[in-house]
Parts: sequence; structure tokens; C-alpha cells
Amino acid sequence: MAVLPIVRADNPVLREKAKKVTRVDQSINKLIDDMIETMHAANGVGLAAPQVGVSLRLIVVQEFMENEVGELEPGQIIVLLNPEIVKTSGEYETDEGCLSLPGYVGTIKRAEKVTVKGLNRQGKEVRIKAEGLLAEAFQHEVDHVNGILFFDHLPSIDQLRRLQPRKKPGESEEL
Ligand code: NI
Repeated sequence: MAVLPIVRADNPVLREKAKKVTRVDQSINKLIDDMIETMHAANGVGLAAPQVGVSLRLIVVQEFMENEVGELEPGQIIVLLNPEIVKTSGEYETDEGCLSLPGYVGTIKRAEKVTVKGLNRQGKEVRIKAEGLLAEAFQHEVDHVNGILFFDHLPSIDQLRRLQPRKKPGESEEL
């Protein structure tokens, strides 16, 4: 496994509509493993293949579960090929960031709950219901494979805010 370089927000690959994954072969399996390692190394909540320069509809998301003291603990890693948001409900405002634009955050609107469908790495169709940060991560990463960046949801790019100082490792909510 390897930690891959994450492309920056001005890279054109992040503006492409990524191609469907048609089969999970050895190279896709390696890419998935490398993306998981890259997400961990960057303390991210999620990562989409275009962020490592590969224009494929493939995302990884780390589920975080809150314990009694509100501390975030790492949970299951969800791998989805050809992910689609098929149902949304509710709406809320959230401060969102992106591993491709480190150190910046913007307040945008996201659906509170989503249902996402796609294929798991065994090629089996799965549907996942999510809310909160996990739902936000799915919306953010599905945007990535459609060439959309979180700040596109801001009325104006001027509303991006610089995070100063940067959050400590493990406190990042960059996706
Ligand atoms: Ni992102």
C-alpha cells in the first residue's frame, strides 16, 4: 500500500465527470487500498478517486461513531464504486472542508439524511442510510466524482474562510 499525493482544488481532474468502474480488478483493488491509506495519512473523513488524480467513480469514507464523551473514534471504512445519492431528507448548515483545499472551510447546506447506493468492492450492490457527518461525507465524495467541489455550494467564493490555526491531527473534518 502507498500514500498517494492528493491533488489541489485547481487541478482539472477535479472538474471531470469521472468514469464508471466496470470491474474490480487487481489495479482497482490496489487503488482502493492506497486510497484508504491516503485518507488515514491525511486524517480525512473521506476521499474520492479524482482527488488522487484518477477519474473513476470510486469513494472511500470512514464512519466515525461518537462515544459518551463526544470523542470521535474511527469505525468502519466504507468503499463504494459508482456511488449515487438516491434519497435525501432534511437540510442543515455545516462547516465543510476538503483535503484538496487544506486549511479552508465554508458554511454550506447539506441534506441531513441520505441514502446512497453503489457497489462494494466485491461488486455487490449495497444501499446505506446515513445521517450527520457520514451523510455529509457521502454528499461531498459523490460531488467529487461529478466534478463538484464543496465551495461550489457557496453563494460566493469570498465566503471561504481560512482556518487559523489548523486543527490538530485527528480533529480534521476534511473530506
Ligand atoms: Ni473533498
